[in-house]
Amino acid sequence: MSEEKPYYILGIESSCDDTSAAVLAFHADGTVEVIAQKTASQIDIHKAYGGVVPELAGRKHAENIMPVIEEVLGEVRSQKYEAKSKPFVPDAIAVTAGPGLLTGLLVGVETAKTLSYLWNVPLVRVNHIEGHIYSVLLKEQTTGTEPINYVTHKPINFPALCLIVSGGHTELILMKDHGVYELVGKTRDDAAGECFDKVAKLLDLEYPGGPKISALAKTGRTDAIAFPRPMLKEPNYDFSFAGLKTSALYWLRDNKLSITHGFTSFLPNLLGHFGISAPAITREDFCSSFETAIVDVLTQKTLKAIKQYNPKTVILAGGVSANQKLRDALQSSIVILSPDIQFLTCPREYSMDNAAMIAMAGYAHAQKNDFSSWDTITPDPNWHIYT
Ligand code: KG4
Ligand code: ZN
Repeated sequence: MSEEKPYYILGIESSCDDTSAAVLAFHADGTVEVIAQKTASQIDIHKAYGGVVPELAGRKHAENIMPVIEEVLGEVRSQKYEAKSKPFVPDAIAVTAGPGLLTGLLVGVETAKTLSYLWNVPLVRVNHIEGHIYSVLLKEQTTGTEPINYVTHKPINFPALCLIVSGGHTELILMKDHGVYELVGKTRDDAAGECFDKVAKLLDLEYPGGPKISALAKTGRTDAIAFPRPMLKEPNYDFSFAGLKTSALYWLRDNKLSITHGFTSFLPNLLGHFGISAPAITREDFCSSFETAIVDVLTQKTLKAIKQYNPKTVILAGGVSANQKLRDALQSSIVILSPDIQFLTCPREYSMDNAAMIAMAGYAHAQKNDFSSWDTITPDPNWHIYT
């Protein structure tokens, strides 16, 4: 570890339903340290509605933003990072300016502007998707009970093909260099996480439904129900999940299954009448077959794009990247295709929205002196990083 003073960034994230702040230290030898991170989740508020309600989200971000920032600053100040003479102030502030819900983005950007002016430190305007991409450079902060503070800033070998899968996005992006992005494909309707969440709602599972479906899927049969694999055969890299969601809805309706009390399909009874026995389809089978359909589409489309673009790195990020089946399927098929391709995915603790990934992306901009002025920075709910 170098003796040189590290470069400190305060990251702020408030684009959806998490209010998050983090302070990262970037050391001269390339190591990165997440000194403190605090996230106030709004899941308990939004789950009653089955999704994020923008007005409620904005109000909650406004309530939570200063407490989470004060908490991380307090943690930093209580550690050795406190300079003896004056209180700790970061070298830069990185804030999510889009894409996302305007109500949340406004709270984050206005707070960052105020602190930038007060402390006289530069501001970095970070794209939320770019934050997810840079989350793969973070490492688990804990193993067992011992915290590991120092993590290595791994290089990304370019070009990198990024599969970003979250509640609001499903995109394949070609990253040619730091800050240089080209769109390869995206969803034409629902995002993969949105599809998980909506189908989970049909099963009376709480928002966010992805992790709940995935947990039930663990003991189910992957091939119990032949769900469609939308757009797999089409000559492009786009996705569509609305049809898959509808077919899950129709399957539940047509099989007259009780969504709350588990499945006892009438089909085995009918077959039994003719002396044929078929295993009943369980809730776990339904979840496993549905999850497998989404994972198959995401994996196959990404493999197709790899063959076309020959990336040196494949990056998997966004909330849905926490899905173990997706991680395993993508990684193992990449190894078979070409063992030389570097596969990077984020630690699970950084797969959902968080401020550490925003600070991480902010650092790449700060290194290029790509700052925004507090009096001109604005949020953009529809901001695309790619050309
Ligand atoms: O990136 P994120 O925190 O927020 C957005 O930017 O949208 O992603 C949240 C999404 C939700 O749709 C959630 O259901 C999904 O990620 N998700 C999962 C899993 N964990 C989170 N989907 C499938 N399997 C999981 N294990
Ligand atoms: Zn996100």
